[in-house]
Amino acid sequence: MTDADPMQMRLLAAEAVAREAGAIARRRFVDSSFKVGFKGPQDYLTEVDSETEEFISARLHQAFPHDGFIGEETAGRSGRDHGAVWVVDPIDGTANFARGISHFCVSIACVMDGKVEVGVVYDPMRDELFAARRGAGARLNGAAIRPSEAAGLANSSVEVGWNTRAGAAKYLDLLRRVTLWGAAPFRTGSGALGIAYVAAGRRDGYVEQHMNAWDCLAAILLVSEAGGYVSDFLAGEGLTKGNPIIACAPGLKDALVSAVAIEGIAL
Ligand code: IPD
Ligand code: CA
Ligand code: CA
Repeated sequence: MTDADPMQMRLLAAEAVAREAGAIARRRFVDSSFKVGFKGPQDYLTEVDSETEEFISARLHQAFPHDGFIGEETAGRSGRDHGAVWVVDPIDGTANFARGISHFCVSIACVMDGKVEVGVVYDPMRDELFAARRGAGARLNGAAIRPSEAAGLANSSVEVGWNTRAGAAKYLDLLRRVTLWGAAPFRTGSGALGIAYVAAGRRDGYVEQHMNAWDCLAAILLVSEAGGYVSDFLAGEGLTKGNPIIACAPGLKDALVSAVAIEGIAL
């Protein structure tokens, strides 16, 4: 790496900022001294989400003042469609965080010209840092990761992400299809970690009817750099409005894409 490699500098910055932000979230989680509210039905918000996002935004702005920023808690505030744009979820897994369940993470991605260039997902409770740079592979705490060798849905383990945005009927249909085809369905409450686990071979697949870019962009790069399959999340208005997602081990692509039959995702 040289100073002339701006994306490598962004990867290093994202790793450092994710660790610091994760330490803030971990400290607050352990103290459990924060207020919990709701943005809508089942949509938790704690004061730590905003605090952590403000920290990340300030640090990234200090280091890269000309970059755009889209954060979950300040969506679109300074988003741009050209140049580098940071896409940040300060705490993914807020419902877990708010209920004292230690499964949540910080997610930081950097997008440029329609491509995810940098993706970092940090789990502060397990001290696990998943990081990828486009074209340079994906790592967990510095060691290369890869998806599982699953070749069919029987014996597979698939996370079926849930939120109120897509509606109950669509969620139940997805769950039914995944289960009918023989996969073990899971839902752990952090989509970013769920997709990162696909990159690391801990889970064979992840499906959800709608995610926002801050939930999944960093983890998407982890999966594609680790050698897995991910649907084209940035298609259309994915960056600003979100899209459905399928991420899986490469050998599961055909079976999973056909089994779940999500509108807009074809083989
Ligand atoms: C949610 C989680 C959840 C996923 C939802 C997300 P949040 O994000 O990642 O697992 O299924 O789509 O909205 O609210 O915890 O940041
Ligand atoms: Ca969040
Ligand atoms: Ca999220």
